[in-house]
Amino acid sequence: MPEVVTHDVKDLDLADKGKLKIELIDKRMKVLASIRERFEKERPLEGIRLSACLHVTTETANLARTLKAGGADVVLCASNPLSTQDDVAAALVKHYGISTFAIKGEDNDTYYRHITAAVDHHPQVTMDDGADVIGVLHAERQDQIPEILGGTEETTTGVIRLNSMAADGVLKFPVVAVNEANTKHLFDNRYGTGQSTIDGIIRATNMLLAGLDVVVAGYGWCGRGVAMRAAGMGARVTVIEVDPLRALEAVMDGYQVTTMARAAGYGDLFVTATGDKHVIRSEHMEAMKDGAIICNTGHFNVEIDIPALQKMSTSHRTVRDFMEEYTLPEGRVLFLLAEGRLVNLAAAEGHPAQVMDMSFANQALAAEFIVTHHRELVNRVYSVPKDIDEQIAELKLQTMGIEIDKLTPEQEKYLASWNEGT
Ligand code: ADE
Repeated sequence: MPEVVTHDVKDLDLADKGKLKIELIDKRMKVLASIRERFEKERPLEGIRLSACLHVTTETANLARTLKAGGADVVLCASNPLSTQDDVAAALVKHYGISTFAIKGEDNDTYYRHITAAVDHHPQVTMDDGADVIGVLHAERQDQIPEILGGTEETTTGVIRLNSMAADGVLKFPVVAVNEANTKHLFDNRYGTGQSTIDGIIRATNMLLAGLDVVVAGYGWCGRGVAMRAAGMGARVTVIEVDPLRALEAVMDGYQVTTMARAAGYGDLFVTATGDKHVIRSEHMEAMKDGAIICNTGHFNVEIDIPALQKMSTSHRTVRDFMEEYTLPEGRVLFLLAEGRLVNLAAAEGHPAQVMDMSFANQALAAEFIVTHHRELVNRVYSVPKDIDEQIAELKLQTMGIEIDKLTPEQEKYLASWNEGT
């Protein structure tokens, strides 16, 4: 009997196009491919029901293939209504037999219906990007909690939520914070967000960045990446940051650092990357120049107070794909990109495969870790074990053909001693 693959995707006729893209970028995800090869032989996830709520992209497709190769019974749903690549979703269903629930541009009801489909799978392992599946399980499906061995979380925002749940004593199963692995946030958050955010902005606006005043809100790993790449394109970069240490780092990295109230008056392009809400508010938008562009690259669409922008404006219209023009009463216009959602995934294709290779290697190995060690784990947020993180860094270097030195026995002894040297 042919395999029945439950799904809700835009158009299965897009599947061949999606398959070509998935195969093309698989060659840039060699660490994940090597894990897939081992998983095919060892089947460490045999029979495990796994629900993944991730951005449905070519890179995620290769993760889903890897989990399936390990024996997992995978259901995938979108972790954002605008980030799905419809051809990839179709290919996952038609060519890889993976149940997928994701349509680019889906409305809120469809978004939550798709998450419900993933929860209805009765996962033993959850895999989130933004803690949505974990949120629904804790809020509405406590009866399913005993079936769950553990979960993984991809993003900073999700990890913040899970840490709050753990601190309040309400987290009901162990979760591995993939975002905390060095091989994740140092590369994906910094170089991935840096490049893909600029890519999304350029695709949406077709603007020259050289000579613009670009205001980056948030100087975590994502904000650092955006600031670095915007400066590399010739923009004058201002950083807004509430943490004194990070603000100081931004100053010494060579950026202008000030308040949003001050920057609002001179910025040409505003990018939020804070993980917090209402970083750009009505008082800031009141002060912005005619033609200023606002966008967000943080996980949720709350960083810009969009309801306030809608209230302030007399009309709005779409002037390009993912670019809306809001007209204010005095005739000034402001542009909002990608409805304030992640501009890198909505207007471009998210982080390139070379960094997602490491992020998703962490995801695959974290899932294996949970299945192997769940009996020893308690209900808290775990980091990815250090040996896994280091193994991924080593493998990544190998796949890039880069050799590094090893410590000599004399150097090892020196580092372990406290009485040699002065
Ligand atoms: N998050 C950021 N970029 C991504 C990508 N390309 N695939 C999946 N999740 C992502």
